[in-house]
Amino acid sequence: MGSMEASTAPENGAAAAGGGAACNGAGPMSNGGGVERRLRSSTASASWAAHLPLEVGTRVMCRWRDQKLHPVKVIERRKGLSSSSPADYEYYVHYTEFNRRLDEWVKLEQLDLETVETDVDEKVEDKQGHEELDAASLREHEEFTKVKNIAKIELGRYEIDTWYFSPFPPEYNDCPKLFFCEFCLNFVKRKEQLQRHMKKCDLKHPPGDEIYRCGTLSMFEVDGKKNKVYGQNLCYLAKLFLDHKTLYYDVDLFLFYVLCECDDRGCHMVGYFSKEKHSEESYNLACILTLPPYQRKGYGKFLIAFSYELSKKEGKVGTPERPLSDLGLLSYRGYWTRVLLEILKKHKSNISIKELSDMTAIKADDILSTLQSLDLIQYRKGQHVICADPKVLDRHLKAAGRGGLEVDVSKLIWTPYKEQG
Ligand code: ACO
Ligand code: ZN
Repeated sequence: MGSMEASTAPENGAAAAGGGAACNGAGPMSNGGGVERRLRSSTASASWAAHLPLEVGTRVMCRWRDQKLHPVKVIERRKGLSSSSPADYEYYVHYTEFNRRLDEWVKLEQLDLETVETDVDEKVEDKQGHEELDAASLREHEEFTKVKNIAKIELGRYEIDTWYFSPFPPEYNDCPKLFFCEFCLNFVKRKEQLQRHMKKCDLKHPPGDEIYRCGTLSMFEVDGKKNKVYGQNLCYLAKLFLDHKTLYYDVDLFLFYVLCECDDRGCHMVGYFSKEKHSEESYNLACILTLPPYQRKGYGKFLIAFSYELSKKEGKVGTPERPLSDLGLLSYRGYWTRVLLEILKKHKSNISIKELSDMTAIKADDILSTLQSLDLIQYRKGQHVICADPKVLDRHLKAAGRGGLEVDVSKLIWTPYKEQG
């Protein structure tokens, strides 16, 4: 597992999801502003020409799609296709102020060479050193996986820009676009292959049992053991949007809850969450994803609410597996805040964290941290006491955003997982 970014900009993440072609370094900004900048700083560029191509690890300012300069670190570089001039390299950069999903290939024109800092990582530089060699090559490998290998996917009606590296089998690496069957999630390199596949694929919904239907929304439970290939395909797909999750090849141990919007053409996947069949740590959710075209419509909170409804049916408390991503934390914080504060508003009498946990299936630690972050907890005589002034509650509820789509529990037909045989 990697680490979470210290500084993240979720709003920019949303832009990345919906931003389309602008994500790929070929946007208008790589001409206009960049060229002008290059002319103005031609003297500096000339002195920098000797240092081109830039080293991996270099820090420099880069013009982003907002037309402003932002600090980046060079993660990788590659030769341009047209010539072998050192000025013709392209650079894969990480915007140090933003989440990794905004990492992208940029052209030299986007970089302000006057601001170059050659802060090359010592360990990589120290490759010749004997003891360091292993660690250094490991590090290099780590650096390599930071570069997105698949830029786009096609899934159902959507073409989607990807966010992160995903360890597809090597023959799919550096394929500009992968084509997924939206029902069985098999993937191929060419559109014609997908068209041939669609003629013979007989699935119109995820494999497994439909355990919830409400209007056009359906939830399917897929057992990773019974549907191994589907489970693996889903993990490959999901990793394109999840930065720091280990990909579990052992899908046998998981159940996948796949949320679909259904119409007369079939049930189209909107998002999913996975859940370990048995969790020692009381995890009720391992990974959660809303596909980018469906984000910010309340599906994330629906999936979270659904995971707690399953826990209630199991008679257990649950918590999501850590670490949470920036967007994961925002969604959970929003969900926890809304659920807990709505109960506090109704309960005029004192209520304990244990009681809140029994009612919601939210683990006591998560209740405590949510209420603490809202400054609603006081520690009196060795005990945590919830202070719930109705006006304060209303203010927090307003700030917690929309409630998301409701789970209608009467439409959930499900019994907890039991090992067969
Ligand atoms: N910018 C700012 N706030 C955001 C953004 C964003 N881009 N996305 C979500 N939020 C916050 C908002 O508070 C939002 O509520 P609001 O719309 O009422 O203001 C809330 O999170 C959740 O919004 P939903 O519409 O219910 O959630 P969505 O369908 O967008 O899904 C999810 C949230 C699943 C985290 C999605 O962003 C996603 O798939 N991200 C990529 C994968 C990921 O990071 N998953 C979590 C990893 S942690 C884990 O798996 C245990
Ligand atoms: Zn198929």
